[in-house]
Parts: sequence; C-alpha cells; structure tokens
Amino acid sequence: MARFAELVALDAGDHDAVCRFCEGQRIGLVVIGPEGPLVDGLADSLRDAGVPTFGPGRAAAQLEGSKGFTKDLCARANIPTGGYVRVDNEADGLAALARFGAPVVVKADGLAAGKGVTVAMTMPEAEEAIREIFAGRFGEAGAEAVIEEFLDGEEASFFALTDGHTIVPFASAQDHKRVGDGDTGPNTGGMGAYSPARVLTPALEAEVMTRIIAPTVKTLADEGMPYTGVLFLGLMLTRQGPQLIEYNCRYGDPECQVMMLRLESDLGELLFACADNRLGALPPPRFSADTALTVVMAAEGYPGTPKQGGSIAGIGQAEAGGALVFHAGTALKDGQLVASGGRVLNVTARGTSVSEAQTRAYAAVDAIDFPEGFCRRDIGWREVVREQG
Ligand code: AMP
Ligand code: GLY
Repeated sequence: MARFAELVALDAGDHDAVCRFCEGQRIGLVVIGPEGPLVDGLADSLRDAGVPTFGPGRAAAQLEGSKGFTKDLCARANIPTGGYVRVDNEADGLAALARFGAPVVVKADGLAAGKGVTVAMTMPEAEEAIREIFAGRFGEAGAEAVIEEFLDGEEASFFALTDGHTIVPFASAQDHKRVGDGDTGPNTGGMGAYSPARVLTPALEAEVMTRIIAPTVKTLADEGMPYTGVLFLGLMLTRQGPQLIEYNCRYGDPECQVMMLRLESDLGELLFACADNRLGALPPPRFSADTALTVVMAAEGYPGTPKQGGSIAGIGQAEAGGALVFHAGTALKDGQLVASGGRVLNVTARGTSVSEAQTRAYAAVDAIDFPEGFCRRDIGWREVVREQG
C-alpha cells in the first residue's frame, strides 16, 4: 500500500481520532475494511461527522456481528437458510442439540475471527462445542450460541453492493477455508480463491438476488437500519436451491483480491455512489470474463501461531510473468522483506479458465523464495475437475 498511498497510524477503535483526522484532511470517502470497526459503529460516527462512508452502521452490521440476529431476520423475511435455535446457556444448548441430532452446526453468536463455528459430525463434538462456548472460550462473542441444521452441498460466495435501496450484483467467488490440500485440516481465514464461481449460474444468481438479498435489504430498511456497503453472502448450494450460511459486511479476504483483478469499472466511483445514496445512477459494474485465481502463501504454523520474520525473495520474478502479488502480512526489516503475519502473500493471476489461471498462479508461487512459508497446491480444484470434464 505504501507504494501507492501515504500510510497513517490511526486506531480505528478511537472514533474521535478517526473523525478528527478525516475532517482535518478533508477526506472525501472512507471505506471501512474489516468487520470489527463496522460492528463497533465507526460508520455511524463518521456519517454523524459528515464524512461520506462506505460500510453499514452498527445496527445493520449485526448481519455479521450476530449470527442469531441474521437467523431471526431470515425467519422474519422468509429467506432460505437452515433451521436453527438460539440459546444462552449450556443446559438449553445441550437439550436443543438432542433435538437436532448429528451432523449439526454450533456457532458462537458474535465475532470470533472465523473460529466460532463447529461443523459437528458426531454428538460428542457438538456437545463439546456448546460446553466450550459457555465456558467462555470466545468471551462476549459466546454469550449466546446458534445451533443450526447441517446443510449439504457446495459452497460459493456472492457479493452485492447497496446504498440502502438500490442493489447491484457485484461478483461471485469460491474460497478454500481449510488449511490443507483436499479441504483437510483446521479452518483458516481462507487459503485461496477464484472468481467467478461458475457453479453459481446466472439463474442461481438471480434466485439469490430475489430470494435472499432483496428481502434482506428491504427488511433492514423497513426496520430503520438501512444497509450501505457490500453484502458478502456465504451460500450453500443445496439440492433445494441456494441457502444462506452467513452474511459478512465487507469484501472477503482473499475473495476481494480475485474480484478486483477482474473489475473493469472504477471502484472508487461505485463505493462513493453507495455512500452517497445514488448507486442507481451508475451503470452496473463491469468485469472481465477471465478467471482470476489467488494462492495464499502463509507462514509456517498458521492458523495456529505463525512463525514471524521468515525472509521472502523473488516477488519481482513472480510478477514478471504477469501475476500480481498482494502483500497481506509482510514488513521490511533492514531492507529485507520478511513475514509479519499468518497469511503473508496473495499470489494472483488471470486466465481464460480456472485451469489456466491456476497454472499461472502456481508458476508465480514457484518463483517466490519463502522457505518458512507454505501454501495449498490445489486452489480451484473443484472447477478444474469440471473443466477437465
Ligand atoms: P462461517 O465462519 O460462518 O463462515 O462458517 C465457517 C464454515 O462452516 C462455512 O464456510 C461452512 O463451511 C461451515 N458451515 C457453517 N454453517 C453451516 C451449515 N449450516 N451447514 C454446513 N456447513 C456450515
Ligand atoms: N475468506 C473469508 C472471509 O473473509 O471471511
């Protein structure tokens, strides 16, 4: 980012400091990236101070901040999603589990950095998850839990922009959440992604727009919590059609990287139109028909404790072939590029098919020398299998 912009150390939790900075610098648009400040109401503080802001306020950000809130909204608006119960103590949780039976999904209600969900194949696993939540493993985020019907199918993500009334489809992507090849091992923030996700056909996208997104935006507006920003839907494509797994209030990581590589419209203009309530006045976003695919290079130990400080070289060679390497967790130490996070690099390439984008992305990965890093070798595998027919 420092290559393109001036970096400023601001604490996003200090709303006064952020507002003062924006007023002082006459900032024309704030785009709030992560879920924490959104759920914490930073967008409300900025809008109150007259700063145009892309992102939902505290009330609408409950879509990501409280799984129970979202499930209740789905129930009120008749949105397709798995059956559920909300519980606020262990005894009720265990009793509810007995009614569901395994497989079943147990979720801490609040933000848990992607670690609050247990897809339990057996009752003991599910019971253990309930006990952990109410023993305080997630702090306040686990004051409540949601027990949810297990949905079977292929997952895909879909994104839409809204200014609170106009809704425009953005793009689709497919993430790879597990740390290991073949979707094995623990969950992560995402080890790679590609866009578009062709498994989400135009007909399915239209169904998602009318049956899930439109009633969500309308219900939130009708209930006095209009949503401005991007809606990120986690979907399960079941035999009964697409069902909502979850909402996020932001662009996903690494889904964002692959969608941005395909976007041909001016992103700033789109986000500003959302903040400014005139999304309907713009032409819909245009995307390249190409596929973009990104491979996450992570530091050894991730998603546990990642090893910090591992040296990285070869980014220039990787990009010479047309790939683009996003820095997610890097730092410069005495002029040497080193790892400073869990997910460290997003090695991203385009192609006319997923297979081609995959080949190019891994050629770029192989040009990078990061001995204390690792990556999955199979990003895009579902679609590659389909392309190879
Ligand atoms: P989340 O943190 O809410 O994205 O959930 C993490 C992962 O758990 C999702 O990406 C799904 O793979 C899985 N998951 C969540 N809810 C369900 C469900 N009701 N049925 C099956 N899998 C689920
Ligand atoms: N990659 C999933 C997320 O950003 O939540």
